Amino acid sequence: MTPPLLALVLGLLGAAVLSDRGAHASAVGDADRGAKIYERCIACHSLARNRTGPKHCGMIGRVAGTQKGYRYSKAMRAWGKVWTPESLDEFLENPRRTVPRTRMGYAGVKDAGERANLIAYLIRENGPGGSCP
Ligand code: HEC
Repeated sequence: MTPPLLALVLGLLGAAVLSDRGAHASAVGDADRGAKIYERCIACHSLARNRTGPKHCGMIGRVAGTQKGYRYSKAMRAWGKVWTPESLDEFLENPRRTVPRTRMGYAGVKDAGERANLIAYLIRENGPGGSCP
């Protein structure tokens, strides 16, 4: 392979890897599969009620750390981001890296596809016809 061609091939490979990374937050997941992954959360969370962790109904589109009746860590209250598919993806990948000193004692969901499914489930339950009021 001539050097310019090699450079072109490497460039294309690099672009593919980058665009794959960029796309992972917006990938549309499978809500039914997400329901199974949510079983990892129900040790501490429920959709409808605050428990060890805050409830997840009404979360999409509101600012992190602002569910009424739930006492958050300072760290979560200070984070200040709105819960969107992108911010959920970022948080759930590694909660304690994203929000240092969060009280959520959970390592995160490392697999991007599993996160996409989980987020699709949370969005479905919060949307029309979902189980949230
Ligand atoms: C070991 C208990 C535990 C587990 C398991 C757990 N969480 Fe949490 N979660 C918490 C706690 C406690 C908080 C409050 C964090 C704080 O105040 O810093 C929290 C906060 C959150 C928040 C912020 C919500 C808000 O109202 O701003 C989200 C989103 C969240 N958890 C999602 C999840 C998901 C999705 C899972 C499953 C993959 C999960 N959590 C698993 C305990 C847990």
